[in-house]
Amino acid sequence: MSRKPVSACRLTAGQTHKLARCGYETVGDLEYVTVAELSKELEIGEEEAAQILRQIKDDSSSGVESSTVFSGLRREEQLHSLSTLTRDFDELLGGGIEPRKLTEFCGAPGAGKTQLAMQLSVNCQLPHAFGGLAGQVVYIDTEGSFMADRFKEIAEHTRSELQPRASRRRKKQAALPSVEEMLEGVHVFRVHNYIEQIAVLNALPAFQIDHPQVKLVVIDSIAFHFRADFHDMGLRTRLLNGAAQQLLSLATQHNIVVLITNQMTTTIKDGTATLIPALGETWAHACTTRVVLAFDGDTRSASLFKSPSLPEGSIHYSVTAGGVRSVRGAAGPSSQTPSSSSTSSTAATAAAAATTAKRRHEHS
Ligand SMILES: Nc1ncnc2c1ncn2[C@@H]1O[C@H](COP(=O)(O)OP(=O)(O)OP(=O)(O)O)[C@@H](O)[C@H]1O
Ligand SMILES: [Mg+2]
Repeated sequence: MSRKPVSACRLTAGQTHKLARCGYETVGDLEYVTVAELSKELEIGEEEAAQILRQIKDDSSSGVESSTVFSGLRREEQLHSLSTLTRDFDELLGGGIEPRKLTEFCGAPGAGKTQLAMQLSVNCQLPHAFGGLAGQVVYIDTEGSFMADRFKEIAEHTRSELQPRASRRRKKQAALPSVEEMLEGVHVFRVHNYIEQIAVLNALPAFQIDHPQVKLVVIDSIAFHFRADFHDMGLRTRLLNGAAQQLLSLATQHNIVVLITNQMTTTIKDGTATLIPALGETWAHACTTRVVLAFDGDTRSASLFKSPSLPEGSIHYSVTAGGVRSVRGAAGPSSQTPSSSSTSSTAATAAAAATTAKRRHEHS
């Protein structure tokens, strides 16, 4: 039974206070407490009670770890970043999207968030020699915008653009996955409300154990179910903080890249309306890196606004039939089911369904 104090766990001050008031002082005191019991005793909702127990379990199982700067640097050197396959974008991000961090892409409708998320879901499956992670993808689709047909199109284009280089290399490690393999390599979770979204996030650690080949987790978008009809802002903040902590812990434990898309919202400052990323200040702190996508004349721009190690900057990119591409030059890098009502399917299943639906449509 752990004697670790509850106050040492990553809970809000209010939660720690309520636990103390009800006599829960150590992690061990909560070992056999159920969600329903805690909810009743602390007079909080079951979701929050579940989040508290989960957090305490996470914090007690992982313990407090330290590492030297030297070992941290060595680990970072050994880990691969995920390439966007566009030189400018990779340069902006210091070589690609880093694992073990939360990277957020924000933008107005149509700015290219979903296109970029789909492109990166293709890139993730490429070998390291092509800027990929040779891994699979979990794609949490909150808006219903993951289009299997479009993903297939991006996979086909990307593969055929890289094929000449792959043929020259001949090494087994540089072999490109087939389009079918790439479709099979994306596990899509369609979530219809914030409860399903939280449930899928809760189920991810177990899913990861069954699917250790997953190297990228996408949430497109984090904001969708937390903006519409969400009146309890305190609950929203707690749920989002919990989500960020869960994602970060998954990312660091398994060296995963986490890609989050976010919407923009209007704020009035000094009488002027300005577009800012949705979900407020607390969420802004939760993300390690934040990039804002926008329209800029005929092209699109990506601006790095927040990074712990990189300077701010902007680049241009375009969305083509082949996916996200540089406007400057050719593409190419410089070198089971959770217990919720939402279901996971691979992109291949969705693509097959889309093809069948299309055929039916053509025959009708
Ligand atoms: N096959 C294609 N060829 C060229 N451009 C395309 C293609 N498919 C999509 N696009 C471009 O991508 C845009 C949609 O981008 P995307 O779906 O990524 O927007 P988003 O930022 O995710 O928006 P939202 O906030 O509404 O989800 C389209 O308006 C179009 O300009
Ligand atoms: Mg989108």
